[in-house]
Amino acid sequence: MPKSFYITTPIYYPNAAPHVGTAYSTIVCDVVARYKRLTGYDVKFLTGVDEHGQKIQEAADKNGYTPQQWVDKMSLNFTTLWEKLNISNTDFMRTTQERHINSVREIVKRVNDNGDIYKGEYWGKYCVSEETFVPENQLVDGKYMGKEVIDVKEVSYFFKLSKYEDALLKYIEEHPEFIKPEGKKNEVVAFIKQGLQDLSISRTTFDWGIPLELEEGHVIYVWFDALTNYLTGAGFAKDPEEFANVWTNGTVNHVIGKDILRFHAIIWPAMLMSAGIKLPETIAAHGWWTVEGEKMSKSLGNVVNPAEEVEKYGLDPFRYYLMREATYGQDADYSKRAMVQRINSDLANDLGNLLNRTIGMQKKYFDSKVVLNEVTDTFDAEIKALWEEVLVNIEKRMNEYQFSEALKEIWKFISRMNKYIDECEPWKLAKDEDSKDRLSTVMYNLVEGLYKIAALISPFMPDTAQKMLNQLGLEVDAEKMKLEDVKAWGAYPVGGKLNAAEPIFPRVEFEEEPKKEYNENLTIENPITIDDFSKVEIKVVEIIKASKIEGADKLLKFIVNTGKEKRQIVSGIAKWYPNEQELVGKKVMAVLNLEPVTLRGELSQGMLLTTTEKKKTKLVIIDNEVKLGTTIR
Ligand code: MSP
Repeated sequence: MPKSFYITTPIYYPNAAPHVGTAYSTIVCDVVARYKRLTGYDVKFLTGVDEHGQKIQEAADKNGYTPQQWVDKMSLNFTTLWEKLNISNTDFMRTTQERHINSVREIVKRVNDNGDIYKGEYWGKYCVSEETFVPENQLVDGKYMGKEVIDVKEVSYFFKLSKYEDALLKYIEEHPEFIKPEGKKNEVVAFIKQGLQDLSISRTTFDWGIPLELEEGHVIYVWFDALTNYLTGAGFAKDPEEFANVWTNGTVNHVIGKDILRFHAIIWPAMLMSAGIKLPETIAAHGWWTVEGEKMSKSLGNVVNPAEEVEKYGLDPFRYYLMREATYGQDADYSKRAMVQRINSDLANDLGNLLNRTIGMQKKYFDSKVVLNEVTDTFDAEIKALWEEVLVNIEKRMNEYQFSEALKEIWKFISRMNKYIDECEPWKLAKDEDSKDRLSTVMYNLVEGLYKIAALISPFMPDTAQKMLNQLGLEVDAEKMKLEDVKAWGAYPVGGKLNAAEPIFPRVEFEEEPKKEYNENLTIENPITIDDFSKVEIKVVEIIKASKIEGADKLLKFIVNTGKEKRQIVSGIAKWYPNEQELVGKKVMAVLNLEPVTLRGELSQGMLLTTTEKKKTKLVIIDNEVKLGTTIR
């Protein structure tokens, strides 16, 4: 039976639409999943959404939905995009599912049975946006990573995380492959060595979560809930046979972003140790994407929408670009110029041309039939040797999550094949009848090389691999291919016939877009309609009398001419106008349809508009030429 390989993405908060960062995590997993299938594994690939917690509950409230309605609606953004990106996940987790709730209950029970849960009180800061408890020493200007924190003082159940310090350090040391890449591992070790605090795992001030069975009124902390999704997806608390196969005896691999490394490399393994469950084989943390050199953020309005990029550049170029551009583990920059360059040079030029030229020549010289009367040359030995080398390197690079390097290996082979054409000069061979057999060998090697390239790129660009196979006249399903079948030179069946050449990668032009001078995607806080606004009657009035009010040092009272009548208006600006007489004769703006009020015994029949800057308040003075009674819109 093929060995089981289990790979997971983080489960995303469905609050925000997926972007290039989340697409990257998911594409990375897809590439690994497809590569493992290609190399003979039985792959289980889980992705999903993280649906509980305060952040979701607040977003649902704000948008006028119940939390369940909200996550039902928002999780569709993810399923739709993954389909569009050709993601081959075998499961989709939603943490509101019954199977997951059972699995979380089971892990809490096991951890509790192990004596690792106790009741206490959490008193400190909490960052809702990151769903994390924040120690004081991690606050900068009262914020956590630039995000707001709130004060929490709640009775809470705690997990004895501190108990696992030594066991964690030992495990990490004994399993150098556990945390990838190396630099991230060192970060985790250093963090653990500073000492771990026990973790609060229940909340009581909201209820959108899985109830903690130990005590009513507590819901399980969202990260304790979310991490467990990986077990749920492997059949935990549901199907012991599947769980043994996928988790206990299989290889378990978590792909995550660097910001959630501590949850995965510290809390998660400690939970598993406490519950007596085997630890995952790999936790691979990737870096973050910036966009054209800037941090990606809603407020900057530069969030990259993967679906739009796919429309613009095509799916496989988008997938290729992400995998080629980032060095796994480090931050990477998403840039239009680099994208266009990769498409034109790596895809259209190197790969596209190799396919096109080969198919064109085969047609011209052999009427598209693949024949082979072998006459070899030193160049042949060179390409075959390179192929062997590439095979070994690819396996190594893929297992180390060095995707960019793996692609470079494939492109080394593609470039060598292009060079092979130039070296062998088929057009010259074709002119001489005596060279016909040599020509058949050269052309065969080119077709064979392309077949092999199709296999190697299939995890990265499945559609392109399929197109290549079709043009090569092979009735092979790219998704069912096995690398084993194409490893040896001579995999292409002699006597086959190529199909017509069709360009697989159209070239694209780089157009410098003028930088937007404003943010099109701005969110307006508390929006009102124009009808709401027109309810307010604001007019230009003239101050005809100004005086102090006895016993109220903050207030001044004015008699103003509205153009229709005289009114009295009281305003809290005395501090800023010690000589109130200077205001007489000035034209200012007033709201005239406010309900009248009495302030310190004085009737006020409107409100004067002011500005406040650097704590100093001033009346908005209108140019004298503007007519009295003019409406302000
Ligand atoms: N729900 C948690 C994960 C729970 S896993 C048990 C979560 N969700 S998230 O939606 O906020 O983030 C999901 C992933 O997106 C994280 O791995 C994070 O690193 C990644 N990214 C968010 N912005 C990113 C970039 N700009 N670039 C790359 N990845 C980024 O955290």
